[in-house]
Amino acid sequence: MSEHSPCLILGVTGSIAAYKSLDLIRRLDGEGVSVHVVATRNALPFFPLMPAEIFSGHPVETELFGTGARPQDGRGRVPHLALLERADAVLVAPASADFIARMALGLADDLLSTLLLSAMVPVLIAPAMEEAMYRHPASQTHRKTLLDRGIREIPPEAGSLASGKTGLGRMASVDRILEILLPLLWKSPPAHGSLSGLRVLVSTGPTLEPLDSVRYIGNRSSGRMGQALARAALARGAQVTVVSGPTSLPPLPGTDHHPVTTAREMEDRLRSLFPSHQLLIMAAAVSDYRPKDPVAGKRKKDGREWTLSLLENADILKGLSAMKKPGQFLVGFAAESSLDPASLLEKCRNKGVDLLVANDISRSDIGFSSPENEVTLITPAGEFRILPLADKSVIAGQILDAITATGWPNLS
Ligand SMILES: Cc1cc2nc3c(=O)[nH]c(=O)nc-3n(C[C@H](O)[C@H](O)[C@H](O)COP(=O)(O)O)c2cc1C
Repeated sequence: MSEHSPCLILGVTGSIAAYKSLDLIRRLDGEGVSVHVVATRNALPFFPLMPAEIFSGHPVETELFGTGARPQDGRGRVPHLALLERADAVLVAPASADFIARMALGLADDLLSTLLLSAMVPVLIAPAMEEAMYRHPASQTHRKTLLDRGIREIPPEAGSLASGKTGLGRMASVDRILEILLPLLWKSPPAHGSLSGLRVLVSTGPTLEPLDSVRYIGNRSSGRMGQALARAALARGAQVTVVSGPTSLPPLPGTDHHPVTTAREMEDRLRSLFPSHQLLIMAAAVSDYRPKDPVAGKRKKDGREWTLSLLENADILKGLSAMKKPGQFLVGFAAESSLDPASLLEKCRNKGVDLLVANDISRSDIGFSSPENEVTLITPAGEFRILPLADKSVIAGQILDAITATGWPNLS
């Protein structure tokens, strides 16, 4: 983590949902965010300290007055203020009903509540509790007080609750929390990140090839890998352009977003954008074929077979590699049903890419619509490296690190 990584104080309070905060820490770490956890004492029965310290790389703080075992910081600074010095935001996730009440009242009876009274950075809460607690007039009044004060709520979701009941009150999913939190943390991209001053172009999502005005040939690409790469590039200070096929993900704030539908639209957009970018990562799952004669309007059933004729789409990656100028770096993704080293190396060289990222699509636990991935990196020089199973945000960071580890960009 660089000294320019955004820094988050993650408050964890006494809710059963505290176990999910571990995943949140892992994901934030993968996104290049430095996480400092401050837990209430009542969070501790719910929250595994050692994994939290290992994932965040920092001690979990709980005590306002210190224990004597770890003297403050040797410079006589007050611990809750010292923690706030580097913070870009504070997120309380999960936020218990009790803690929301204490925040609303401005109590300062432990480290987290005291720290929040001095916080001048954005503060967010992700409540987690039984529906009755959440809907109780007292909780709603406290919640409203916080919202009026400019504190942002990441609302709870409906679903099964710890009590076994179903209802509103589950802490928002980690994906949802990241969607709201990350753009806030990266409002000012790091000026000295490893990609600062560089323009990065990412293609993502599927392409859809129309059969008629309502039907299409597509694939199951969710766009998550490309979005994770775009986020990771933003975190490293790049200016990021995204060309995205249709996905359910909202455009990533802070990026220049270009929606497209078909392979030909994607090709046109990438060809016009590539010359003004130094790094292109082709994570989109582009359809290899398109229907030869799409039907105008919606084809009606007529009791007969519908025979399709498909035309091969252009190899966008190969076409772009032919346009590559010195200083530009090109990364291609390959969806493979077998990871045979010789054919991967041949593909890497044949496509003219600087790095090939191979996904094993025969596995159902990774790839297309999964939040996790395991990939193999191949360079034209014949180097192979497996990035083991991890969240796509973690894999994205590792891919960018692998790119800069090749010595690119050589700006001297
Ligand atoms: C098993 C168990 C689960 C709990 N889950 C929640 C919860 O999900 N949300 C909540 O607001 N309180 C929950 N509580 C109650 C809080 O832990 C309690 O109000 C505590 O005082 C909160 O302390 P804190 O806000 O200082 O962390 C739970 C309590 C127990 C014993």
